[in-house]
Amino acid sequence: MKDKILVLGSNGQIGTELVTALRATYGNDNVVACDIRRPDYELKNAGPFEFVNVLDKDTLHAIFKKYNPTQVYLLAALLSATGEQNPKLAWDLNMNGLLNVLDLALFYQTAKVYWPSSIAVFGPNSPKSNTPQYCTMDPNTIYGISKLAGERWCEYYHEKYGLDVRSIRYPGLISWKAAPGGGTTDYAIHIFHDALRKGSYSSFLSAETELPMMYMDDAIRGTIELMDAPADQLSIRSSYNFGGVSFTPEVLAAEIRKHIPDFKLTYAENDPRQQIADSWPKSIDDSFARKEWGWKPEFDIAKLTSDMLMNLKK
Ligand code: SER
Repeated sequence: MKDKILVLGSNGQIGTELVTALRATYGNDNVVACDIRRPDYELKNAGPFEFVNVLDKDTLHAIFKKYNPTQVYLLAALLSATGEQNPKLAWDLNMNGLLNVLDLALFYQTAKVYWPSSIAVFGPNSPKSNTPQYCTMDPNTIYGISKLAGERWCEYYHEKYGLDVRSIRYPGLISWKAAPGGGTTDYAIHIFHDALRKGSYSSFLSAETELPMMYMDDAIRGTIELMDAPADQLSIRSSYNFGGVSFTPEVLAAEIRKHIPDFKLTYAENDPRQQIADSWPKSIDDSFARKEWGWKPEFDIAKLTSDMLMNLKK
């Protein structure tokens, strides 16, 4: 059967790059970008686009009916920092958007569904270093709570109804093509823009705040590799731990100084995002992803730093 793919939330940081990658494999016309906002020129002109709000069940239903997709990627969400400003909206979008899509995927017998989770599912009592797949999880942001509940729903739909739903717990994603979406890890993107523009950056996270991060190229490749993996190799239907690199603002600044020797990093105090970062892991044990579907990151801190600077300079 020919693949038809819906990407819901196509204009965000991940969607922008995922749509392009999927179109390169499946053909432009077979990957339908969907968002509540008008896409940029490139995305819109390369292939089909639909205005869709994942909370609007009727429109969503009409889109499933129109395209009868074999794969659906649901990326529409409110992230950790933005979510704290509007907890009820974050819960509504992150949870009911997911349930709407899971139900329609069952109804239309969509072959595979992808939904992203996050390191935000962990909390203050989770182990901080090499955080394992299975451990105490007590998220204290609405984003993290909605992602953990979403993971349980994904597993439930798989166990009860046989839906082939797959998921990854993304770390902070670093990219240059589209702006980040209001997360706690966004400093690691802003720092590159300011380093090039101003030669200095004021970090909202403290010098020693270590967090798991990943370059977008790795994240997109990993996502597609998980979706391509044979179903019987996957033991986890909640969401896979997914590791890239881990670093602090201080260490990232030192790496940037190899390219921009005078780069200055200062620290802003009392930012609410610090508390969120302090509740998250420093590094991730992703041995299930490595063993079950061959996951291996390619970008270390040196490689992602030079790639970011090179592309942003253009
Ligand atoms: N990058 C996300 C955030 O900071 C983590 O999933 O919210």
